Amino acid sequence: MNITVFGTGYVGLVQGAVLSEVGHNVICVDVDAKKVEGLKNGVIPIYEPGLEPIVKSNFEAGRLNFTTDAKSAVEHANVLFIAVGTPPDEDGSADLKYVLAVAETIATHMTREAVIVTKSTVPVGTADKVKARVQQTLDGAGKSLDYHVVSNPEFLKEGAAVNDCMRPDRIIIGTDSELAEKRLRKLYAPFNRNHDRVIVMDIRSAELTKYAANCMLATKISFMNEMANLAERFGADIENVRKGIGSDPRIGYHFIYPGCGYGGSCFPKDVQALVRSANQVGYNASILEAVEAVNYRQKEKLFSYINAHFNGELAGKTVALWGLSFKPNTDDMREASSRVLMEQLWAAGAKVQAFDPEAMEETQRIYGSRDDLILCGTKEAALNDADMLVICTEWKTFRVPDFDLLKNKLSSAVIFDGRNLFEPEEMAERGFAYYAIGRGLSVKAFN
Ligand code: UDX
Repeated sequence: MNITVFGTGYVGLVQGAVLSEVGHNVICVDVDAKKVEGLKNGVIPIYEPGLEPIVKSNFEAGRLNFTTDAKSAVEHANVLFIAVGTPPDEDGSADLKYVLAVAETIATHMTREAVIVTKSTVPVGTADKVKARVQQTLDGAGKSLDYHVVSNPEFLKEGAAVNDCMRPDRIIIGTDSELAEKRLRKLYAPFNRNHDRVIVMDIRSAELTKYAANCMLATKISFMNEMANLAERFGADIENVRKGIGSDPRIGYHFIYPGCGYGGSCFPKDVQALVRSANQVGYNASILEAVEAVNYRQKEKLFSYINAHFNGELAGKTVALWGLSFKPNTDDMREASSRVLMEQLWAAGAKVQAFDPEAMEETQRIYGSRDDLILCGTKEAALNDADMLVICTEWKTFRVPDFDLLKNKLSSAVIFDGRNLFEPEEMAERGFAYYAIGRGLSVKAFN
């Protein structure tokens, strides 16, 4: 099938590449000419495991192409995906200007019937706005053409995006059109392993499904972080509690890892956006407000342990920081806990020596050159002349450190672990002061 995807961000690029990988002819459109040129030359603007080879091979095979020319891209296909960004505007609502601009572009260049699919995470009711914008543009141009708007949200995780897209656990199709349903079923047929993964529903339910999924996951995390905070005060170990509750299949082991807060491009933005949308329909989404508040506080936890341990004397201290991305296997630093921590440390007069396997360039881009930030080439180099080690992201390479080296290098044998990578008893035996989330010295601090 011929397919066009607007937007070459995470969602658009991964979706376009994966659709070409299963044999569809895909054109990806972006307004950023530099990005498009780069993609044609195999330059992938994001770090995502497995993405580069499929972009390159499908581009070479002629099944995947990139362009800034919206007109030829609209003519290419009768399934047109909108996968552009929906950044939060000042009050946290999703800003739809890019989505609606694409809707207008599509209508401007449409010459035949088309299925228009929103893939971006958009508030409930957006499909109606897309329809209105398409209709208005068609009317303005005096064109009368059939079109069908579909909500088909994406559930990919950064770092596992290609795999999530290749092996989706569900494909949500929100539509009121049989034609659109049939066409999308055909398009997604290669992804239906073993059993049918397609769930068809009305458009508004599909739109809400995406928010409900992300908000549920964010709620699980904030709930666990709240339990970790309680464990600290009750003298319990949250890791035991986690295993104890996870064994109940109604609760499950997934997404109940306490930590220094969730980040990324989805959870913070989607929780906020649903709170705002709820307000707009006269509902106070108090659970979601609490989820956000707990997460905000959680991101400040590592600093409060550090500050307490050093009795507020952080000026002139050097902090070795392992992990800058919001989670492993990505270079993405949007809403990362490391940023909150670094900014608090700088404000207190400390210097940060950081290492991350992928996010060094991104950190440089965000913070530029500053005296109190040193980006180190290895995790060991970050330890040189440091006073303490702090871990913000659970990259595999941080899980089995050379503890003797750590002890030799750090002026105080103290580790602040925002991802609960080690066992408190073992750390104590090795002679480290070990603060983790809901365990280790963080518990003793309250007792
Ligand atoms: C998320 C959803 O998982 C995905 O389905 C949706 O399409 C987009 O948003 P992503 O943001 O890529 O994906 O990352 P995810 O792996 O879900 O992690 C999000 C954040 O939650 C990370 O900061 C992670 O460290 C944190 N997290 C996750 C926890 O703190 N504890 C957990 O148990 C799980």
